[in-house]
Amino acid sequence: MDLLLKGGWVVTAERVEQADVAIKGEKIAAVGADLTAEGAVVRDVTGKYIMPGAIDAHVHYQMPIGELMTADDWFTGTRLAACGGVTTVIDYAEPASPAESLTASLNKRLDEAREQACVDYGLHQVVLPGQEEDEAELKAVVDKGVTSFKVFTTYAQRLSLAAIGRLLKIARRLGALVTVHCEDHEIVTAKREELIAAGRTDPAYHALSRPATAEVKAIQDVIALAGEAGAPVYIVHVSTMGGAEAIAAARSKGQQVYGETCPHYLLLTGDKYAGPDSRLYLMCPPLRTAADNESLWRHLAAGALQVVATDHCSYSREQKAAGTAFYNTPSGVPGTETLLPLLYSFGVRNGWLTLPQLVRVLSTNPARLFGLYPRKGSLRPGSDADVVIFDPRRQITLTAANLHSAAGYTVFEGFNLLGYPEATYLRGRLIYDHGRFLGQAGQGRFIPGRV
Ligand code: URP
Ligand code: ZN
Ligand code: ZN
Repeated sequence: MDLLLKGGWVVTAERVEQADVAIKGEKIAAVGADLTAEGAVVRDVTGKYIMPGAIDAHVHYQMPIGELMTADDWFTGTRLAACGGVTTVIDYAEPASPAESLTASLNKRLDEAREQACVDYGLHQVVLPGQEEDEAELKAVVDKGVTSFKVFTTYAQRLSLAAIGRLLKIARRLGALVTVHCEDHEIVTAKREELIAAGRTDPAYHALSRPATAEVKAIQDVIALAGEAGAPVYIVHVSTMGGAEAIAAARSKGQQVYGETCPHYLLLTGDKYAGPDSRLYLMCPPLRTAADNESLWRHLAAGALQVVATDHCSYSREQKAAGTAFYNTPSGVPGTETLLPLLYSFGVRNGWLTLPQLVRVLSTNPARLFGLYPRKGSLRPGSDADVVIFDPRRQITLTAANLHSAAGYTVFEGFNLLGYPEATYLRGRLIYDHGRFLGQAGQGRFIPGRV
């Protein structure tokens, strides 16, 4: 045995129990009471929680968009992940245009990550218009360990509903999961033109330009398509009560619909757009209302939403400041590092989630949905020894100065937390301890998903 975590509370998707965790090499060797291990390094974790490393299933590190590049690259993105107790991230492989093959874009993305990643990673494959027809290419991607496709109902990358229907049918045959950014393009376009015609172009109008109805309609359309195709579907970054209700209704009829939300949709509201820093809070879909926040917590607690991920897409203050209007301000916010502590303080401590539910929405559920379980998302013997030691008594006020994103700001500035990651182990190696990053670029591995 190499490492023995002694005296803590082990939290899994099923239970909380006082137990020790023994680690041999890269794997969990045993979980049980009063373990002994000769020659092992013993870490006293009395009073701490021992949890499977969190999985941020929706990140955009080193993402080019037009002339811009996100502030966090593969190195800084995965470094800040380690500092937040996140041991696996799932990013995207996106072809530069429909002319670039899926496999070419995937290989390029894997090459970028290989030397830089500090935690383990998987990828979702973005499918552009026309590419949904090429079953052989889609299969080649799945065979390489990318078991989820990503499509958009808006943006330049959007697929028509007919095309999404085609992809859903092929994905069902391949055993893959289609994930969808849901905002109805016609509604968004009409609103945008209306606001521009009225001269209301300031970033403060961002939420008005992408109304809740756009998300709800797109989610309803996509759920209907998935039902017709008999395929599972996963809706990313659900921001509205109506969207969560549509997912819950479909699930109650037995449809395999999964929903992800993000900390910013649970904890922030659109009044941020009225302030002087509106650009810093600009992401798609936009922040909504307190009623939406509460509904998303309720649906998460009830299991109608299964995953909380961050959609980490960071731009610096300078990059954001270059935006002159809601339609040309870089869209996205940083989030991976604060995912686990925010969900603990505001989810568990506020009574929305139990500790096992916390582990489910941050680790076990994304691992299962994206083909990584039980290697990831579990503390069973044989699973990767990705472990977070979490101190439930550590009090901290979030501030960008103590976080590690190259964005240089957090939308959660000033949030008071009780509970914070103390240490992170990646496959048995200590990569973060008491505020210090101890990992290395290139130690993160691509973890192929299995269908
Ligand atoms: O504004 C956001 N969310 N940017 C990242 C891309 C996306 O739509 O997820
Ligand atoms: Zn999106
Ligand atoms: Zn995204």
